[in-house]
Amino acid sequence: MGRKLLLDKAHIPGIRYYDTYKGNGGYAAAEKALKGMTPDQVLDEVKKSGLRGRGGAGFPTGMKWSFIAKPEGVPRYLVCNADESEPGTFKDRYLMEFIPHALIEGLIISSYTLGANTCYIYIRGEYAWIPEILEEAIADAKKNGWLGKNILGSGFDLEIYVQRGAGAYICGEETALIESLEGKRGNPRIKPPFPAVKGLWQSPTVVNNVETLAAVVPILNIGGEEYAKIGIGKSTGTKLISACGNINKPGVYEIEMNISVEEFIYSEEYCGGIPNGKRLKACIPGGSSVPILPANLLFKTAKGETRMMTYESLADGGFLTGTAMGSGGFIVLDEDQCIVKNTLTFARFYRHESCGQCSPCREGTGWMEKLLKNIDSGRGKMSDIDLLWDIQRKIEGNTICPLGDAAAWPVAAAIRHFRDEFEWHITHPEEAQARNYGLAHYADPREIAVPA
Ligand SMILES: Cc1cc2nc3c(=O)[nH]c(=O)nc-3n(C[C@H](O)[C@H](O)[C@H](O)COP(=O)(O)O)c2cc1C
Repeated sequence: MGRKLLLDKAHIPGIRYYDTYKGNGGYAAAEKALKGMTPDQVLDEVKKSGLRGRGGAGFPTGMKWSFIAKPEGVPRYLVCNADESEPGTFKDRYLMEFIPHALIEGLIISSYTLGANTCYIYIRGEYAWIPEILEEAIADAKKNGWLGKNILGSGFDLEIYVQRGAGAYICGEETALIESLEGKRGNPRIKPPFPAVKGLWQSPTVVNNVETLAAVVPILNIGGEEYAKIGIGKSTGTKLISACGNINKPGVYEIEMNISVEEFIYSEEYCGGIPNGKRLKACIPGGSSVPILPANLLFKTAKGETRMMTYESLADGGFLTGTAMGSGGFIVLDEDQCIVKNTLTFARFYRHESCGQCSPCREGTGWMEKLLKNIDSGRGKMSDIDLLWDIQRKIEGNTICPLGDAAAWPVAAAIRHFRDEFEWHITHPEEAQARNYGLAHYADPREIAVPA
């Protein structure tokens, strides 16, 4: 059994409520920080832990916190990014819904470290039932002296507010989120200035993911050095993975970042293998934005090394033969899944969610959807594949925010690894329609040679 630091109490009945959480060791880390540590000492522990942001980019949290500007007389803000709208990703929802006090405790410690007296949780509109859970947890924490003025006699004041989003994926991008919090349309800002210097209301602001902020609690409980011993290299600690698709046991799993991808998919502790004895075709391990990886590259890297569930190993080979940890939304596709249809589904999502500010993204996502729709419905031409390739190349790197890249990468990877399936859809339109799935040409990766 892997070590659990975030979900270790998830099985306890009533852990959602203050008394049960507190009675099972909750708020010990907040007490330790506020009563016995300076903000710099907490920052030091977070740096030592090697914690990397769990929202997608994997930026070191301690370093990010040390960038926050401290101009005299200007308030600082902590914003918890609970927008979680990436298809395939639902790990933050689990934490907030079942162990809300773990997040609230993390927010108290993190705000104390940053010197922020106001903290916002920005939550996606579709998580309609969760704000109430969070608001109840905040009220109970306040009633018990963990929020408000002069918390535990430390001289530190904090209020936490929940802000509901209106259902836009782009509002998960940190500067779009800040715009939305300010009551404006959620369009990303040009950086620099970065939020750490000019963020919410032009004040220094740190935006972190739900899981990142909750992880600060076990870091203080066990110590940064101990946390850093879990995992491999720069992938320290545990990671929440939301697993879905063609697996026997979909759900949210906490893994130590030292297990292989193969173990994660096939072991009974995690996904429990693929239903009905089907074979693995491909996997999208980090949410819809990261490149799809065919089965033959999933368990072994192009160098022939075992592919591990770490930031580095998943990315090994770059986007040619690797992928990314992303937001931890692990989507498994069996041999019956159609890559063209799958790519079209994602393309439709990105076209819908593009904020429209940058022409390459606004226009390009629309064209990609149109071409994929043609190929999927049997009206495609061979030249459409090259046109698709060309469009995604023109989007990547040419937009204010990475939504453009996120839209381009799935298309690029699908064509790179499954071009023959796109061609088959074009040459066999009727068959492709009738079967409604693609070529089952990827057998079990253990039977296939890794390309040189
Ligand atoms: C289009 C888009 C959507 C994003 N959605 C989320 C999200 O839902 N949750 C999240 O934590 N980060 C999201 N991010 C990343 C944030 O911009 C930011 O990097 C993150 O909140 C930083 O937190 P971390 O350092 O703890 O990972 C998104 C980025 C982009 C470009």
